[in-house]
Amino acid sequence: MSGPSSQTLSHAVMRAPDAVHFGRGARRSLAAAVAELGSRALMVVDPFLARSESFAEALDALDSSGVAVRVHSEVVPELPVAEVVAAADAARAWHPDVVVAWGGGSALDLGKLVALLLSQPGPLSDYYGENRVRGPVLPIVAVPTTAGTGSEATPVAVVSDPDRALKVGVSDARLVPRVAIVDPDLTVGAPAHVTAHSGIDAIVHCAESFTAVARDPEWSERLPIFVGRNRLSALLALDGLRAMGTALPRAVALGDDLDAREQMAWGSLLGGLAFGSGGTHLSHALQYPIGAMTHTPHGLGTGLMLPYVLQACRAETQPQLAEMAVALGVATGSPTDDAQAAIDRLAEICAEIGLAPSLAELGLTRSQLPQVAELAAGVTRLTALASVAATPDLLMRILDAAFDGDRSRLD
Ligand SMILES: NC(=O)c1ccc[n+]([C@@H]2O[C@H](COP(=O)([O-])OP(=O)(O)OC[C@H]3O[C@@H](n4cnc5c(N)ncnc54)[C@H](O)[C@@H]3O)[C@@H](O)[C@H]2O)c1
Ligand SMILES: [Fe+2]
Repeated sequence: MSGPSSQTLSHAVMRAPDAVHFGRGARRSLAAAVAELGSRALMVVDPFLARSESFAEALDALDSSGVAVRVHSEVVPELPVAEVVAAADAARAWHPDVVVAWGGGSALDLGKLVALLLSQPGPLSDYYGENRVRGPVLPIVAVPTTAGTGSEATPVAVVSDPDRALKVGVSDARLVPRVAIVDPDLTVGAPAHVTAHSGIDAIVHCAESFTAVARDPEWSERLPIFVGRNRLSALLALDGLRAMGTALPRAVALGDDLDAREQMAWGSLLGGLAFGSGGTHLSHALQYPIGAMTHTPHGLGTGLMLPYVLQACRAETQPQLAEMAVALGVATGSPTDDAQAAIDRLAEICAEIGLAPSLAELGLTRSQLPQVAELAAGVTRLTALASVAATPDLLMRILDAAFDGDRSRLD
């Protein structure tokens, strides 16, 4: 056993927006929330959503509330760093006092990083890593349209930097949006592949924060952003899995299933809150190089890797996996069988939503695997949260199994 069950964890850390507005129609609370924070709003919006009726309504409501608005709608998926710098440069002379980010994870992360660059001296690379932001950041109001990265509630923003072989993150409590407005109706138009990739990432956030190591924090020192599984992250992650386990296949198959969309929006919010303190581990560490090498979406890589990673951690995380089996509705009462049932159910969900079943199908070559292992092993802030020692050797075994789509090799 790797540690106490979630009921007996003895410590907790929470990072969260000052306010969360969740529910169908919650988007209508935007204007009042923004007007509380400022009178000149920079709206960073996904180009697809910029043409939507909901966004036009939001602009009208902001105007009626006396908030002047400038719209930036050039958002490139997976967020190249040059786009972030260009967006901040374009907005600087306008002197916004609040940033509204509206869209998928790429738009939300762009909004968060523009808020950072407008408040603190650059370059952005100064802030790569954890706890590196030295002063206040413009207040951010986040409105997600995918379910999702959970970015509306996290201290994280992720960019692609051509100077680095991996995607890089800025993780700092000052990046947590002040207000998260989560309206499931805004996700209804997301196409099936976006629903699948962003939805499985939300499940990975819950599964990885729930299987991350639990260790007592060094309270006398500045806390790392990711402290590992804790009493609050565990509670949220398990509830997120409960909501999303059945909802994700439904949301992918039938995009206008409003109940499925609502469960997904709820689960991804909980996933963001859970991993915002608990952290993620090996699926994320491995996705960083895989995504950079194959130019595939974040959630496609984290989702594909999850069953393999959990299989490799099974012995060390059996109690957690057994609890996950209950949340996923596949428990039988035997902890050993239930641990495997949870992993099998997650693999089944990946198949049901049409994820590529192997790294070979994702476009990697076998000769690239050692480099993936080496780069992932270097993402120590995440690998340190795994319940197993993430040696290049173990990472190679996981990659090798995932390359051929054969989980049984990790038993
Ligand atoms: N900050 C965090 O905590 C965090 C966590 C996980 C992932 N991420 C990052 O988030 C990004 C991925 O975000 P994502 O999965 O939300 O995708 P995305 O924001 O890249 O969007 C993918 C596509 O979906 C479209 N889209 C979004 N919402 C839509 C809607 N409602 N209707 C129709 N089309 C819609 C966009 O126009 C885009 O073409 C990656 O860069 C990833 O690294 C951040
Ligand atoms: Fe993720």
